Amino acid sequence: MSHALGTPFWPGPPATSDRNCTSPGSAWADTTPPSNGQGNTAMQDLPTAGPAALPGIIADSGRIGFTMWCEARVGSLLATLASSKPGGRILELGTGTGVGAAWLLDGMDADARLISVEVDPAMQAVALNHLGRDPRVTFTTADADAWLSDYDGEPFDLAFVDCPPGKSHRLADLLALLRVGGLYVVDDMVLDPTWPDDYQRQVGEFLEELPTVTGLRATPLHWASGVVLGVRV
Ligand SMILES: C[S@@+](CC[C@H](N)C(=O)[O-])C[C@H]1O[C@@H](n2cnc3c(N)ncnc32)[C@H](O)[C@@H]1O
Repeated sequence: MSHALGTPFWPGPPATSDRNCTSPGSAWADTTPPSNGQGNTAMQDLPTAGPAALPGIIADSGRIGFTMWCEARVGSLLATLASSKPGGRILELGTGTGVGAAWLLDGMDADARLISVEVDPAMQAVALNHLGRDPRVTFTTADADAWLSDYDGEPFDLAFVDCPPGKSHRLADLLALLRVGGLYVVDDMVLDPTWPDDYQRQVGEFLEELPTVTGLRATPLHWASGVVLGVRV
């Protein structure tokens, strides 16, 4: 279900930035006018509709001081990619408060299933509250490192990896859980000088190693918060 076209469901930027999250997001990049770099701002690439649950999730996220959700353009991409996998099995590592999960569910059909893993129960409680009645989603509270070691279920058709395990480390283990032809998505790849040095270093190393990763064909996209879109080969 989508939010009504044209309804302002993106609130203004927060007064302060939350850096507790290991993967800083760029939720407020949405306020930047789109541009093709040649002075043409005509191409509007912000979604004009979104999941109905989003305003409530964002409001509750603010109440617990969480601002690191994926930005709207990335969310729209997640929904689009999820729609390419009818009946698909979808994985999110790093639920946060459920913004990415809301977009994934928005794109999934009735037979698709989402597992979303988060180490912080307080954050995941927001997602559970707003999305937990959807029978297509399972929220798992666990460290993604341990979860990657323990998971022995069916392989996945799409993985949105939004925390360090499966991205800056354990990438091979994550790829082993993807079907050939399955999609691998990460965001927050465009560096922001305000981010912690450690995160910037991890992103730099990840992008440098990407072309050499066995079993992954990937394209870095300098768009929105910076995306890597890959396919398990
Ligand atoms: C960028 S936020 C996720 C945002 C969410 N995917 C979205 O699109 O709205 C990253 C999340 O990963 C979680 N996280 C960090 N390390 C983790 C780990 N080892 N296992 C599971 N979750 C982790 C953080 O607590 C945080 O909620």
